[in-house]
Amino acid sequence: MNQDNSSKRGALPLSVVVMAAGKGTRMKSERPKVLHRIAGRAMLSHVLATVEPLAAANALQRVVVVTGHGAEAVEAHLSGSPLHAKHLLEFARQMPQLGTGHAVQQAVPHLPDSGVVVILNGDVPLIQAETVQALIQASAGHKLALLTIELQDPTGYGRILRQKKGSDNESAENAPVQAIVEHKDATPDQRAIQEIYTGIMAAPAQWLKKAVSQLQNNNSQGEFYLTDIVAMAVAEGLPVVGQRTTDEVQVAGVNSPVQLAELERAFQERQAKAFMEAGVRLADPARFDVRGNLVCGSDVDIDINCIFEGQVHLGNRVRVGAHCYIANVQIADDAVIHPFTHIDGEKPGVVVGEGALIGPFARLRPGAVLGAEVHIGNFVEVKNATLAKGAKANHLAYLGDATVGERVNYGAGSITANYDGANKHRTVIEADVHVGSNSVLVAPITLGAGGTVGAGSVVSKDTPPGALTVTRARQTSLANWSRPIKASSVKTKK
Ligand code: UD1
Ligand code: MG
Repeated sequence: MNQDNSSKRGALPLSVVVMAAGKGTRMKSERPKVLHRIAGRAMLSHVLATVEPLAAANALQRVVVVTGHGAEAVEAHLSGSPLHAKHLLEFARQMPQLGTGHAVQQAVPHLPDSGVVVILNGDVPLIQAETVQALIQASAGHKLALLTIELQDPTGYGRILRQKKGSDNESAENAPVQAIVEHKDATPDQRAIQEIYTGIMAAPAQWLKKAVSQLQNNNSQGEFYLTDIVAMAVAEGLPVVGQRTTDEVQVAGVNSPVQLAELERAFQERQAKAFMEAGVRLADPARFDVRGNLVCGSDVDIDINCIFEGQVHLGNRVRVGAHCYIANVQIADDAVIHPFTHIDGEKPGVVVGEGALIGPFARLRPGAVLGAEVHIGNFVEVKNATLAKGAKANHLAYLGDATVGERVNYGAGSITANYDGANKHRTVIEADVHVGSNSVLVAPITLGAGGTVGAGSVVSKDTPPGALTVTRARQTSLANWSRPIKASSVKTKK
């Protein structure tokens, strides 16, 4: 057991079962359903991310993920997760899949007897830790607590049957729960009930382990229903709490691409709202996507249709123009990213210095490290290159594997020829160099400080500081030169 957790005083021992064995037929996909993504992250990973903060409030003993369809892929996906690294994650294979009760039966050998077990679903990705924590509190380790919600259209869900008349101090709404009846097994009267079971519960561990071993499959679907344990609890006198939520997004399941897209939107809208509440100005919250972790300073402006991926940090007063793709980058205060810029700093990251101007139509690739007030203009690509303060490459250029000094002006159309077909080589451009337009710098090469390269030069040897280097042929003009004439148009004398 995790040492931090075992020493947590008064905390309830907690185990979590995540059911993720189902097929997801309606996704019509080769990929296991729980690995489909919301905001760039597998649904199952969202669920496990919810579990992590629960470890802080409770003594988390174990997380068991029940796998079946696509088990190898699902298990491989989670093998690098933080819970796995802490040895808290285990897998239980369910083959074949005989229902949710059968799924929990497979988890039982992995579950400790103490404390409370929370059941989550791998295809209900947006459940929040606070909601689960409230359910754990409601269970308190000795009650069965069910998360329920009232739906306009409860078709397909298990209905919550409450006692017809509550005791004196209870309204009918909060009357004790008697059972859950699955839609397919429900009578017309029961189908009229709008309160449904969300698929999420908290139960005393020892009791749950015994109860699931007693499940029968004599129902309309021939499945072992986990929900049958509710009537068992009532029969045994174990208190059952039906805890309502009103937040449909948190308990929404994904069964189809349409539902996946709906939940993606709901998730993005929530993120957008949170950013705006923190002071970020979004031109349109409906056209803003964060697939990762975006951190913003104050007075940040973001225009429409921008996508942020991985770890992105925007400093104070950063402005991002429309239609930018921005991934894994640190952007310092007062930088401006003009429209249609593509930044991808997936290992190593990209850094944009204070007050830098990037784009429109710029491309920053991994290892682009730009100092303060650097200008990168349209159709300029930068990869694995450091540009010092005030360096400029404003038009149609490539800087790869380069070290560029302060105030360098890198002319339109110039490129570093960094690749000889086998190896990459470095170009060093010292401070205050001017590289004329349409030059090719054949690496490895160093251009000495303050030097100038004439336009159209192919430079393959180091250049001395302060000098003008020109490698193109000298310009000559021939006076009175006449153009050739087509043979057929020449009149011949007989
Ligand atoms: C279940 C509940 C229903 C509830 C609904 C909420 C039961 C019997 N019914 O119904 O009361 O309203 O969820 O969405 O529990 N799974 C397995 N192995 C299996 C079967 C399912 O791992 O053999 C997993 C699925 O991958 C899924 C979850 O369990 O993550 C729920 O299964 P699903 O088939 O969606 O259950 P429902 O019939 O929707
Ligand atoms: Mg379902």
